[in-house]
Amino acid sequence: MPCRAMSKSKVNFICDRCGTESPQWHGKCRSCGEWNTLVEFRVPDGPPAAARRASAGAPVAAAEVEIGVQPRVACGVEELDRVLGGGLVLGSLVLLTGDPGIGKSTLLLQAASSFAASHGTCLYVSGEESLSQMAIRGRRLRALSPDLLLLAETEAEAIVRQVEQIRPRLLLIDSIQAMYSSSLTSLPGTVSQVRDCAARLFSLAKDLSLPTFLVGHVTKEGSLAGPRVLEHMVDVVLSMEGDRHSGYRLLRSVKNRFGSTDELGLFQMTDKGLDGVPDASAALLAERRAGTSGSSVAPTLEGTRPLLVEIQALVTRAAPHLPPRRSVTGLDFGRTCLILAVLEKRAGLPLAAEDVFVNVPGGIRIAEPATDLSLAVSVASSHQDSPVPADMACVGEVGLTGEIRAVPRLERRLAELARRGFRRCLIPVAPRVPAPQHLETVPVEDLSTAFRAAFSS
Ligand code: TYD
Ligand code: MG
Repeated sequence: MPCRAMSKSKVNFICDRCGTESPQWHGKCRSCGEWNTLVEFRVPDGPPAAARRASAGAPVAAAEVEIGVQPRVACGVEELDRVLGGGLVLGSLVLLTGDPGIGKSTLLLQAASSFAASHGTCLYVSGEESLSQMAIRGRRLRALSPDLLLLAETEAEAIVRQVEQIRPRLLLIDSIQAMYSSSLTSLPGTVSQVRDCAARLFSLAKDLSLPTFLVGHVTKEGSLAGPRVLEHMVDVVLSMEGDRHSGYRLLRSVKNRFGSTDELGLFQMTDKGLDGVPDASAALLAERRAGTSGSSVAPTLEGTRPLLVEIQALVTRAAPHLPPRRSVTGLDFGRTCLILAVLEKRAGLPLAAEDVFVNVPGGIRIAEPATDLSLAVSVASSHQDSPVPADMACVGEVGLTGEIRAVPRLERRLAELARRGFRRCLIPVAPRVPAPQHLETVPVEDLSTAFRAAFSS
């Protein structure tokens, strides 16, 4: 009779809908109430690999813990390396998420090829495309380094065997939802499968100090398909966004155990793959029609990276007997409605019978309130059909009483404006910061003062 202490793993059950574990099988999940969703799941004995590594000996005073420098390797795709915090940490598991067709496979194939060219063997495993499809894409991207190995495989155990044999320097799995483990009876893409496959790849990455990328699909609702545990398990979560119709793709770090999470990478999709855009402000303002009403420029900050964006507004008379329309692309809808309400109440701008359309060109989404003033100025500019001077920008958060409030790191934003040739910027009254050469700063305390300054000339 097998001794319990010697058994390799114990059997558990996991709900394929909500991911809840249970020691026994039930017809109905006790957490989400769904029927027939529990599948068998083998849990290896002992704590997970990361916990084993972390539990080495007695507690140590926080101040005395030696902080080793994490060795990093650059992929060679500059924008990706920057978002990662200066390259890949050895043994790290990086999840890349994004809508279908946004460019995840393209980015990873480019990264794999350039990594292989400088560091040696890379194994790119696709569960979604055949070898020839991958090779066609590789040729198109000119990303076929001789050390880049392609594998069409979906079984996690087979991938682990290949990795142990080949010992690549980088592993890429496209996608985690296409993989399955033969120890489970459920279908690929289900919660139990995604979780089990990710756990195997996590152990492999840590045991072999092998940096690993996982592609993760997002659902129609925008959340990661599969259990939330995937986001907890990995070291880094990167998200790729952008408007599929505009060429720009943004890469953000949502979680990073080894670096900052507010770095931003900007790419442009071309017919030869993704090109990094080092001067993002120039690219985003390239098509701006300066001197037209309904447009102003805001210096935003994404992590440490200043980014000049144009905020466009179009205010037109609403159709009679219909509620006025509000359409917002690139900014937060709720925040935009709030600014429109403040404009109506505090600056006397009658918008209740007007349709208002707001857009940030380039497919960029900006979430910081520092763009409030620029939005307010663009709406006022379109409403009264008077343009803002082409060399003027605006920055500031708008409060509910119409006051212009401080924004973080104003100096960096002003420096970027000066670098791009702007001559004037409306700013909050406090705190006072020195203006860069050739840029005049105009402190404005509320919306009315801001409009007088913006539309006086
Ligand atoms: P892909 O990397 O397959 O997206 P994902 O893996 O996120 O689903 O990219 C898909 C789109 O990118 C596809 O519609 C075609 C376009 N594309 C280019 O425009 N240029 C290129 O060089 C490549 C490879 C793809
Ligand atoms: Mg893909």
